Amino acid sequence: MTGVDPRLHVTLPGLTMKNPVMPASGCFAFGREYAELFDLSKLGAVAIKGTTGAARLGNPTPRVAETPSGMLNAIGLQNPGAQAVRDEELPFLEGYDVPVLANVSGSTPEEYVHVVKTLTTAPNVGAFELNISCPNVKEGGIQFGTDPEAAAALTTAVKAVSTKPVYVKLSPNVTDVTAIALAVEAAGADGLTLINTLVGMRIDASTGKPVLANEKGGLSGPAVKPVALRMIHDVRQVTGLPIIGMGGIQSAEDVIEFLFAGADAVAVGTANFSNPFVCPTIIRELPAWLDQLGLESIGAFREQGANI
Ligand SMILES: Cc1cc2nc3c(=O)[nH]c(=O)nc-3n(C[C@H](O)[C@H](O)[C@H](O)COP(=O)(O)O)c2cc1C
Repeated sequence: MTGVDPRLHVTLPGLTMKNPVMPASGCFAFGREYAELFDLSKLGAVAIKGTTGAARLGNPTPRVAETPSGMLNAIGLQNPGAQAVRDEELPFLEGYDVPVLANVSGSTPEEYVHVVKTLTTAPNVGAFELNISCPNVKEGGIQFGTDPEAAAALTTAVKAVSTKPVYVKLSPNVTDVTAIALAVEAAGADGLTLINTLVGMRIDASTGKPVLANEKGGLSGPAVKPVALRMIHDVRQVTGLPIIGMGGIQSAEDVIEFLFAGADAVAVGTANFSNPFVCPTIIRELPAWLDQLGLESIGAFREQGANI
């Protein structure tokens, strides 16, 4: 493909990426709408919408709300279910030269295992991302993401059936994110992604009622960027596992901050809603940042010890 700057290449477990930028899960669906706007092969990877065992309609509306510098969502994992993703969505993405990070969600360990078994033979699934931290789903009630033992047990169960590397997506809704990171590393995780959304709430001042039908939702966007940077920095101090960083990224400058904090690659979520071209724009602007910093490649952030 023309226009690919080799200095941007990043190789992570299961993901050979032309550049370190992918859309974050839930903010790009399965890529169909964005494919009408730009060539998805430009992306480093695509993280697909959280996939569950059966199809889900998601939560009642309203399920998104604006906040200063961010948004709240309580989508509730709307998706067509693992078999439909295997039969219809992944083949669509096979039309592009881009690896898929398959985001897996569920209410029980058995559901995660079922989804991974269903998707693991898809040729374009490079790796799995276990969403152990969705704060918006009421049933199940198990918060794998806040309990190191539960997170580790889930990782072990999925690793046993996956033929692809497994990344675990960490929740920011914990006191010590490094404890969860170390627990899933010990259980065999191949990489980490962080952060998911922070639990938040809005209230309609004229009625006193919550704005979201689900009452609470996940906060994302620029408001969470400082939290994301702090957590990635903390996790980088305790593990050498690859980290895909996310939380409020809107620009190439933001990406550079995440790479300095210790991320190997990044995902862009909420910014896609206000600017659907944000990912290709960032990718185009990254080489100038390498020039300015005197770094040879994206890998140099790790290799040359540029991480702070
Ligand atoms: C509308 C919406 C839907 C999301 N759905 C998922 C999901 O299905 N699975 C998941 O792991 N994360 C999901 N996320 C979290 C994002 O992937 C990302 O971790 C988070 O929004 C922080 O990045 P951002 O600030 O760039 O959006 C969702 C976020 C939003 C805003």
